[in-house]
Amino acid sequence: MSNTDYRNLLSLHGQVFVVLGAGQGIGEEVVRALSQCGARVVCVDSVLERAQHVASANNGIALAADVTKPEEMDRVFSEASKVQGSGPLGVVNVVGMVLRNELASEDTGSWKRQFELVLDHVWLTLHFGAKAMKDRGGNMVFIGSIAGHVVRSGAALAYASAKAGLHHLAKGAAQELAPSGIRVNVVAPGLTRTPRLVANNSAEYWKQESSRIPMGRPGETSDVASAVLYLASPLAAYVTGNVIAVDGGSSLGAVGSFKLAAS
Ligand SMILES: NC(=O)c1ccc[n+]([C@@H]2O[C@H](COP(=O)([O-])OP(=O)(O)OC[C@H]3O[C@@H](n4cnc5c(N)ncnc54)[C@H](O)[C@@H]3O)[C@@H](O)[C@H]2O)c1
Repeated sequence: MSNTDYRNLLSLHGQVFVVLGAGQGIGEEVVRALSQCGARVVCVDSVLERAQHVASANNGIALAADVTKPEEMDRVFSEASKVQGSGPLGVVNVVGMVLRNELASEDTGSWKRQFELVLDHVWLTLHFGAKAMKDRGGNMVFIGSIAGHVVRSGAALAYASAKAGLHHLAKGAAQELAPSGIRVNVVAPGLTRTPRLVANNSAEYWKQESSRIPMGRPGETSDVASAVLYLASPLAAYVTGNVIAVDGGSSLGAVGSFKLAAS
């Protein structure tokens, strides 16, 4: 038996976290979760007003930056390192969005845009994040998607491919950065009721989608933020290179019992 105090392992007092895409939805909820456990959060969003709104509600620091631009990511991590001083640094990157990309579409540039929006900035986060954490350690959590490991063709195929790339990149980085005391993990949500999706979809849509989910409901932003909080905290001190699905069982396959064919 150890004398571990598990409540202490959930305390983030004295720690600085950078949340990229903090301005609404899952990012906003992640800021709330980290801040409730004592972290000081640098709330980064491309829309300054969103960053300011979330920072002021959570005693954080607002920073406007576009995560797809290397020079802006460099600035974000130098600012965060100044705020933190010498302790470990945490990063949660939430930025990502589905663009319509049919395979037969004439718009071949949309594939590239989708990868910029989902995957390229993950590389930048790992690059600048690892540099900032080099002598102090820390951890990074990325938001992937169950689309990254459950194959479904259609308009979101480019998005799914980029998220699959994100999962793989995070695992490789976890292996490379572990000796430097840096952990890297991914939370892969299933369908989640973010304010943006709720505003854009009918009650009928949510009812229909819920019937496909083993637990019978879509996720809430708090479901996703809870998993992020676990991975970001010392509770997960020995956990790296993992992709945790937060999807009510969706990635297990279709709901329904297996029927034997008549012999
Ligand atoms: N909602 C779902 O069902 C679901 C399911 C699986 C995965 N996800 C993933 O969860 C993440 C968050 O989804 P959400 O619906 O909460 O997002 P959202 O679009 O509601 O919010 C994203 C935030 O990021 C900011 N942002 C966008 N581009 C940026 C950039 N280039 N630089 C800095 N900030 C930028 C936006 O201003 C916004 O505040 C995404 O990665 C998404 O792919 C969502």
